[in-house]
Amino acid sequence: MITITPATEHDLPIIRAIAYQTWPSTFGEILSADQIGYMLDMMYSMDALNRQVNEQNHVFLLAQESESKTYLGFTSYEFDYKGLSKTKIHKIYLLPASQGKGVGKLLINEVAELSSAHGNDTLSLNVNKYNKAVQFYERMDFFIVDNETIDIGNGFIMDDYVMEKPMKM
Ligand SMILES: CC(C)(COP(=O)(O)OP(=O)(O)OC[C@H]1O[C@@H](n2cnc3c(N)ncnc32)[C@H](O)[C@@H]1OP(=O)(O)O)[C@@H](O)C(=O)NCCC(=O)NCCS
Repeated sequence: MITITPATEHDLPIIRAIAYQTWPSTFGEILSADQIGYMLDMMYSMDALNRQVNEQNHVFLLAQESESKTYLGFTSYEFDYKGLSKTKIHKIYLLPASQGKGVGKLLINEVAELSSAHGNDTLSLNVNKYNKAVQFYERMDFFIVDNETIDIGNGFIMDDYVMEKPMKM
């Protein structure tokens, strides 16, 4: 059984550790090692994680194996993104050994339920164009709605699709 629970500030080091274990295999063939290190530092330093939770209204959920209590991965989301009726999924990362077993689907479905209960009518996210997660999102009924090239500094860019999933209200 998998348990999904909201993370507290106390759990942020677990989230950071999962990201550091997951990014190399996710982006190793897409981004340079320098860019992976830069982005991990930008998005997963304890300062950055604390800012996301305390100032930017990001909510983190952790997926845990119920019996062993082993942490498998996490997602983070933000209701009313940019003042719209959209829930933005900022992050979703599962440890390599926990991928392909239905946990990602559980996390997306949980955010979808929370989002609907909040009254938002769309899930939205950015994904690197070359990440195979694009096919996962398509399987979860997300559609590509836009392209975004984002300058993240230090000479690095993010080359993303914006994908959205309309929710039945
Ligand atoms: C992307 C990720 C969250 C997906 O979660 P997951 O647990 O591996 O996916 P699931 O096992 O829940 O798959 C759900 C469905 O999508 C399908 N799917 C998953 N990955 C797929 C892929 N690469 N291509 C095609 N279909 C895929 C599954 O076959 C399954 O289909 P089904 O419902 O018919 O059985 C996970 O693999 C992951 O953490 N990857 C690395 C990090 C990453 O890329 N994060 C996204 C950043 S934007």
